[in-house]
Amino acid sequence: MEEIAFINGRFCSLSEATISIEDRGFQFGDGVYEVIVARRGRPFRLAQHLDRLKRSTDAIDLPVDYAALNLPAVIEEGVRRCGFDEVMIYIQITRGVAPRDHVYSGDITPTVAATFKARPVHTHARARGVALETTSDIRWAKCSVKSTALLANVLIKNAARRRGFFDAVILGEGDVVRETAVANIFIVNDGAIRTPPATDHILHGVTRGYLLECAARLGIPCREVHFSRSEMLAADEVFITSTTMNVMPVTSIDGSAIGDGKPGTIAERLLGCFCEDTADSE
Ligand code: PDD
Repeated sequence: MEEIAFINGRFCSLSEATISIEDRGFQFGDGVYEVIVARRGRPFRLAQHLDRLKRSTDAIDLPVDYAALNLPAVIEEGVRRCGFDEVMIYIQITRGVAPRDHVYSGDITPTVAATFKARPVHTHARARGVALETTSDIRWAKCSVKSTALLANVLIKNAARRRGFFDAVILGEGDVVRETAVANIFIVNDGAIRTPPATDHILHGVTRGYLLECAARLGIPCREVHFSRSEMLAADEVFITSTTMNVMPVTSIDGSAIGDGKPGTIAERLLGCFCEDTADSE
């Protein structure tokens, strides 16, 4: 088993992978990305991730010949070569290499890079639940684009970690809840779920979409609506979702306990869907 990379058509070991200093991804954060998990050789929700990648490149005016690139084949090969049971696949497409200039020309060849590593395990944190803080939104106005320019998210998450929190809930105007630095958020009251609507203020998470389907299948009422920080603090249950974590229960926010301060039952039921659909052993 080996961590490997794919750069512009070639596989190599991770330590050998290099990108030009003039790559616009490095110079400007001029690129987009996806994180996909594969279990026992099967990428989870691949079509949804590749659809979002195309929406992201379209949104930043970056033409990509997806047919020639054949990402499903690249992913299949990378998963096979690295040999991990659970693989975290990171794909990045940047506008490519050119002399540094804010203005780009249309004829630069995009850089397509991917890494294949073992998926991180979150079992312990999930069993206990995590503590979050709230913070204001210092990000840009197009958070629906999965941009590699994640400086605001990096600063938010590190500030939270320094204060002893796992992550931070990002609040918009009027203390409306958006998402966290790395995940979407759900709250539960009287057995009914709410999650913020898929606007430009949040990433339209693939896990979020999957869980909305799971909730419908389980007959759990679920609405995509705005809610405030105080409504979130008063919830019976809060959980956050992402490709790397699936479902992570939140047991306190800004030092106040959520519900009884223990991971909630709806989060557990939804996590069960992952286990059934993906034979996930966690
Ligand atoms: N993060 N919101 C933000 C800001 C995110 O960065 C992510 C994912 C999500 C959840 O999206 P999805 O369910 O499609 O993974 C929501 C990934 C995992 C990352 O950057 O590593």
